[in-house]
Amino acid sequence: MRFDGKTAVVTGGGSGIGRATAIGFAQRGGAVVIAEFNEQAAHKVAAEITAAGGKAIAVRTDVTRPAELEAAINLARERFGRLDFLHNNAFAMPPRWRPTRLGEIRDEAWEHTLNVGLTACFRGMKYAVPIMREQKSGAIVNTASISGIQADYGVAAYNTIKAGLINLTRAFAIEYGPIGIRANCVCPGVIDTPLIGPGGQDPELRKRIESKIPLGRLGRPEDIANVVLFLASDLAAFVTGAAYVADGGQTAHTGIPPIIPTEG
Ligand SMILES: NC(=O)c1ccc[n+]([C@@H]2O[C@H](COP(=O)([O-])OP(=O)(O)OC[C@H]3O[C@@H](n4cnc5c(N)ncnc54)[C@H](O)[C@@H]3O)[C@@H](O)[C@H]2O)c1
Repeated sequence: MRFDGKTAVVTGGGSGIGRATAIGFAQRGGAVVIAEFNEQAAHKVAAEITAAGGKAIAVRTDVTRPAELEAAINLARERFGRLDFLHNNAFAMPPRWRPTRLGEIRDEAWEHTLNVGLTACFRGMKYAVPIMREQKSGAIVNTASISGIQADYGVAAYNTIKAGLINLTRAFAIEYGPIGIRANCVCPGVIDTPLIGPGGQDPELRKRIESKIPLGRLGRPEDIANVVLFLASDLAAFVTGAAYVADGGQTAHTGIPPIIPTEG
């Protein structure tokens, strides 16, 4: 899988899954625009890529600001001549977030979640279309989640955006497939990134989560980046409108028995 001569924009490329995707794309010959809220993190990843001989630029972008997002997407063409791949991936929980039942979700928290996790992805796709249409090719991967296929306790807004993103991606795939633009979702399970919060570092909680995952471990950012890069590549030339689950088998399980026996 190579991306020589190709260009990507990765939102939220300063950490976790986005960082792994940006690095993986560059390692395979592509040029990357890292569009990221955390400017320092974005520059660090870009520096890491260029130090290894790859091509990357970092641009401070808040994906909820339409003009900033559009500028980041256009930057790919301005600096590298094309836009072959957009990874709509940025997300952060609202400030002071904690699991909350639906009846107690603050309006601002609901709106924040929808803006970052769904509306920004809609806009990202919208801004990519004119460039990809001219090229008559392009691939988009939206980071959804297994939380868009099933629901969790206390994160109704997150469940809503990820489910919405899966169907938004299907709608896009239908509308733009005829002109050569593909769009797919990746649906990660529990991945070891800062997003899962301090609970992810608690050994007891980690053990309990791992006991629900047939492969017996949390995912690594690279586990998801590998799927994203496949979907972005020509190897996935006939794949569009799909929601690819990468969760170590977690959602293959009904939950019965509640503990998956570990046998040698
Ligand atoms: N970690 C998991 O278990 C998991 C599971 C399923 C889906 N996901 C999804 O994967 C994606 C990436 O998450 P991650 O786990 O790598 O988290 P992460 O926190 O490591 O990375 C998210 C990045 O997005 C950036 N970001 C946040 N708000 C932004 C904004 N408004 N504009 C631009 N950048 C912004 C952050 O600064 C951060 O660098 C998210 O869409 C998340 O919902 C994660």
